[in-house]
Amino acid sequence: MNKKSYSPEDFSTLAKNKEKLETFRDYIELQHKYSAAIREVQTKLDILNEEFRVRYDHNPIHHIESRLKSPQSMFTKLEKNGIDISIQAAIENLNDIAGIRVVCCYIDDVYKVANILLNQDDIILVRRKDYIKNPKPNGYRSLHLVLKVPIFLSDRTEKVTVEVQFRTIAMDMWASLEHKLRYKQKKELPENLKNDLQKCAEEISEIDKRLQDIHIDIQKL
Ligand code: GTP
Ligand code: MG
Repeated sequence: MNKKSYSPEDFSTLAKNKEKLETFRDYIELQHKYSAAIREVQTKLDILNEEFRVRYDHNPIHHIESRLKSPQSMFTKLEKNGIDISIQAAIENLNDIAGIRVVCCYIDDVYKVANILLNQDDIILVRRKDYIKNPKPNGYRSLHLVLKVPIFLSDRTEKVTVEVQFRTIAMDMWASLEHKLRYKQKKELPENLKNDLQKCAEEISEIDKRLQDIHIDIQKL
């Protein structure tokens, strides 16, 4: 029988693969923890939505989307920020590895649901950016919260960072289309189109307010 002897090159390949294997294991662990955190928040929101339906006959949440950032997009973001690429660096530097988007029916629902979630004992607020009260110059509106939520593992509890974006259906329509238009174009949009998009955001915001008022009036009937 031929006994294979290893050359120094073989050992260096083996060592590299071991490193790759460890990185892969770390990634699987990250994936597990962040998807657990998404499920924790999603369950909290589902329970709240259900309670509103039972008590007030109104679902404040229209739908929820969630995603885990892909390894490619984690590493691109680290690189862009001049940070060494590693799983540990991603955990320490990125707030949006776990992302949840809560699309609500009306503006009031956004604040109601967000505040109730923030009042829960095990939720820690890390950062709050209110782009509804202070829209971005391009017209973007949403309420962004970065939270830490506990996940319960077999031998310990870990606090995992999750980015939650709250917006209305109308704000979501604008943001989804704006994202598509901007990414299709690749380069910076011409000034007149930017202005048009910003105007659309303003008009949509007016409609959001009117729909909110109609909802309040109907509830009073
Ligand atoms: P990021 O590196 O982009 O995460 O910056 P940040 O941490 O300062 O976050 P910010 O609160 O500005 O927004 C993060 C996320 O909000 C983005 O990944 C998008 O999902 C959304 N977002 C922010 N600005 C815009 C915008 O102008 N248009 C659209 N469509 N989405 C936006
Ligand atoms: Mg982001």
